[in-house]
Amino acid sequence: MLTDRIEAKWIDCFERTLALCAVEAGDAVAILSETQSRPLNVHLAELALARLGARAFHVVVPTPAQNAPVPIRSTGASDAIGGLAPAIAALARSTLVVDLTVEGLLHAPELPEILADGARLLMVSNEHPEALERLVPDPALEQKVKAGFRMLRSAKEMRVTSDAGTDLSIRLEGARPGGVWGYCTKPSQVAHWPGGLCLAFPAAGSVSGRLVMAPGDVNLTFKRYLETPVTLTIEDDYVTRIEGPGADAALMESYFAAWGDREAYAVSHVGWGMNPAARWDAMTMYDRRDINGTELRAFAGNFLYSTGANEVAGRYTPGHFDLPMRGCTIELDGSTVIDRGALQGDLACPPPMSLQARAGRRSSFSTVSAAATKSGSRRWVRFPASGLWPGTCRATANRPHCRK
Ligand SMILES: [Fe+2]
Repeated sequence: MLTDRIEAKWIDCFERTLALCAVEAGDAVAILSETQSRPLNVHLAELALARLGARAFHVVVPTPAQNAPVPIRSTGASDAIGGLAPAIAALARSTLVVDLTVEGLLHAPELPEILADGARLLMVSNEHPEALERLVPDPALEQKVKAGFRMLRSAKEMRVTSDAGTDLSIRLEGARPGGVWGYCTKPSQVAHWPGGLCLAFPAAGSVSGRLVMAPGDVNLTFKRYLETPVTLTIEDDYVTRIEGPGADAALMESYFAAWGDREAYAVSHVGWGMNPAARWDAMTMYDRRDINGTELRAFAGNFLYSTGANEVAGRYTPGHFDLPMRGCTIELDGSTVIDRGALQGDLACPPPMSLQARAGRRSSFSTVSAAATKSGSRRWVRFPASGLWPGTCRATANRPHCRK
């Protein structure tokens, strides 16, 4: 059992991650939370920011009433702010927003306005700090994720196959690619911790084929490893058939149907995990309330297929599945980037550093932070052109800082 108490080692972890976000003494940093946030992480963020000499302040909003027919989990689309203008203004005038809302602001409609004048945002996934501790960002991952992002950006087509029977074609022309390595240093940049993900939001009418989830693959909305196979037939972006002999297919069918919304069946994003420290089997070690499952999105070599909102395709729905799968082969324009679940070539990662080794590298975290700060302009600029959270929020279409 994990106990919710402050541990010095966890303040260290938050301090390292926030230092990687180039927090400097005197920076105005907003700690955004809601009444259902994990109090331990809110407190750890505050203590770590104090160590860094930042001028932190809290923005706390009441967790809003539920407005969906089913529980919503793990979407990254928080509705906690609810358009509240004074809260948005306070966040927008910060140097950094540490996002500790339950769902996170990655897809929140307020995000473009918060970023518009240069505030950057780190979403701390709603995990127990014991999980965050293992996944403190490693600066070595940044270049790997950027390499994957560039591959996605230049490719025209992704093909995904597996021994289980997956055979999926995804057109990438018109898609919006992105990448997250776990920290943000530049104005208007967005990251999440844990990080380690390359993904793309395809344009409308880009995905067709068959997705076969095997036992051991994951449904992160349910925080559940599949025990029975599920086959999804996908036609013109939409899941049109859900087949499987067990409870896993029935649960998916039921949750899809509960929305009463065709768009919930459509593709949201596709991509792969890049983080060698993230573990596929980690979910077995935690109670559901202890994790949000971001580690499973990021484990190196997964294929991550997601259904739900996709602004690039002009689709909006709160229904969302994130489905990390093992053992898939991913080709971009015929070139293999993942072979049966193993990253290839420039994307291949060295084994993860031990926690002890990371502790020994503590001084190098400060070095990275200082370097990032030195090179990072304080002028408010728009999203730089590489390796960024792509955003899917409703309002981003007309916002230049959210475009590639
Ligand atoms: Fe997702």
